[in-house]
Amino acid sequence: GAGTMGAGIAQAALQAGHQVLLHDVDAAAIQRGRDRISGALQRLVDKGRIRPEERDAYLAALRDAAELDAVAADADLIVEAVLEDLPLKRSIFRQLDMNSLADVPLATNTSALSVAAVAEATHHRERVLGLHFFNPAPVMPLVEVVATPDTARSVIEAAVEFASGLGKTPVVCGDSPGFIVNRVNRGFTLEPLRMLEAGLADVQAIDAAIEGAGYPMGPFRLLDLVGIDVNLAVARSLFDAFDDATRFRPSPVQMAMVEAGRLGRKTGGGFYRYDAEGGSVGPQPAAGLQDAAGGQGGAPKTASLDDRTIVERVNLAIVNEAYRAVEERVAAPADIDLAMKLGANHPLGPFERAGEMGLRSVVEGLRRLHAETAEVSGDQYEIAPLLWQMATV
Ligand code: 3HC
Repeated sequence: GAGTMGAGIAQAALQAGHQVLLHDVDAAAIQRGRDRISGALQRLVDKGRIRPEERDAYLAALRDAAELDAVAADADLIVEAVLEDLPLKRSIFRQLDMNSLADVPLATNTSALSVAAVAEATHHRERVLGLHFFNPAPVMPLVEVVATPDTARSVIEAAVEFASGLGKTPVVCGDSPGFIVNRVNRGFTLEPLRMLEAGLADVQAIDAAIEGAGYPMGPFRLLDLVGIDVNLAVARSLFDAFDDATRFRPSPVQMAMVEAGRLGRKTGGGFYRYDAEGGSVGPQPAAGLQDAAGGQGGAPKTASLDDRTIVERVNLAIVNEAYRAVEERVAAPADIDLAMKLGANHPLGPFERAGEMGLRSVVEGLRRLHAETAEVSGDQYEIAPLLWQMATV
């Protein structure tokens, strides 16, 4: 896949000195990926980060692979980055498995699908794992290395070495829905979408409040960067995987925007409008947003929530989910903190935040939000059992 993530991963590999084969459905898609990579490298030249000769050497190490079998035959490690479509991923893995040497690691960059379900399509489940990069892939320092119960230790080690060689920090985690970041960070976009849906605050007020609290990007700017469709696919996967737990319920606002083809930067508009280079040219007029969202998601119906409440709702939803993830043994607290700081650039990991706030005030805050918002927001403020246990010890 030579889209946003595939091209970004290829660029990171080229800059680490690897030879890269780029494959996609047709020559035009491969060319778009190549253009994306050469554009990004040119921007690095313009900023004086790399020399023109380095750009040329990286591009010379990038080869087109018109056929998937050519990738299978030649590569020492294969990273799939196609749409979040399990049957599609499985058919690709089946073909890769049949046509590559059995010791070549096969990695999926899935956001939230089960890696084990992808691996089932192969005869060599032990070589299948997740290598989950974060957008923008050339910049974000985290790679989640997702191991299924069948993944061989040698494959995990090879993947860790590969990710470290890209200058990234690998964090090994279990094959649980959304892995670490896409699960623990769900509240970062779903909570704001709910506030928008309920008319409690508008896009800019929420983004300003969150950015004011030290986050690198407001949730709506992030949705536009990642792709509202990609974010929706993640929310849907988690909602399914957690038996329709309301805290993962996808927002009707994002569904309507996807339906209307407003996917974010890549389509020139989402919650904000963008020029051809992807630069923001201002907020989406409230009326336009309302049309795309089927009448929802425009200007607030009531007085806007204050910044402190907006930030508290997002922070506490994230902290609460982090405790659930630890309880389900997705990863240890220190790894979750590291992953959230490196994969989403959060100023503090959720356990660091809980430590700073004090567990009692986390619990009191959740209890209050649960009482105030239960009818609109579901179970996201139900105190995670482990958090409750630790706060009351
Ligand atoms: N592609 C490549 N490089 C980019 C980029 C892009 N889309 N956007 C920014 N950059 C580079 C810039 O060129 C700049 O590089 P430099 O330091 O060499 O000059 C650097 O990133 C910093 O950019 P800016 O100074 O313009 O802007 P910021 O300081 O605001 O940083 C950001 C941009 C790194 C994107 C930061 O806002 C951020 O960390 N945002 C949060 C991103 C995030 O949470 N990503 C994870 C999303 S979830 C995901 O991907 C999982 C998936 O499964 C859905």
